[in-house]
Amino acid sequence: MPKAHEKFLKEILIPENDLQARIAELGAQISKDYADKDDLLLICILKGGVMFMTDLSRHITVPHAIDFMAASSYGVGARSSTGRVRLDMDVTSQIRDRHVLIVEDIIDSGYTLRFVLDTLKVRQPASLRLCTLLNKQSRRAVDIPLDYVGFNIENKFVFGYGLDLDEKYRNLPFIGVVDIEELGNND
Ligand code: IMP
Ligand code: MG
Repeated sequence: MPKAHEKFLKEILIPENDLQARIAELGAQISKDYADKDDLLLICILKGGVMFMTDLSRHITVPHAIDFMAASSYGVGARSSTGRVRLDMDVTSQIRDRHVLIVEDIIDSGYTLRFVLDTLKVRQPASLRLCTLLNKQSRRAVDIPLDYVGFNIENKFVFGYGLDLDEKYRNLPFIGVVDIEELGNND
């Protein structure tokens, strides 16, 4: 029986092995960079960052806490940001004087991350950095400082490994490119 996602899958952009190898590298780099910091807090941006954060966390050898935040852009257009972002769920952790590392699935326009960075910055963390699995640089509308990037990708709509296609297929172990024509046929 064909799997449901195969209909929408144009190609596998990043296979599971490549993803996991790169996440191990990022974890090693972060472990090195935060080796002398005793209060690291990873903040996962829901929902897309959840797979990445759980795998990344297991490669970070420095003791650290985790928390979750959800933000979404609102207004027109389900598949592109509008610049108006709202906080759907806040962290429960104290931020002040802690070393905060935001863990995100993808940076596209940058509006979501700009909002998240601004929201956390006013709470006076000791440091505030960003780790994104994917970066679509060509789509950037606002400047975002990139500290850790898994993969730079072209302007294609992707899904899997935390990223959804209409809220589904986040569980796929790879990053796939959406077949826009197939998707259009179903709308
Ligand atoms: P922004 O445009 O940088 O604000 O990105 C907003 C959010 O859109 C990201 O955090 C993702 O959740 C989502 N997003 C952007 N590009 C894609 C994609 O190619 N596939 C799935 N979700 C995406
Ligand atoms: Mg996201």
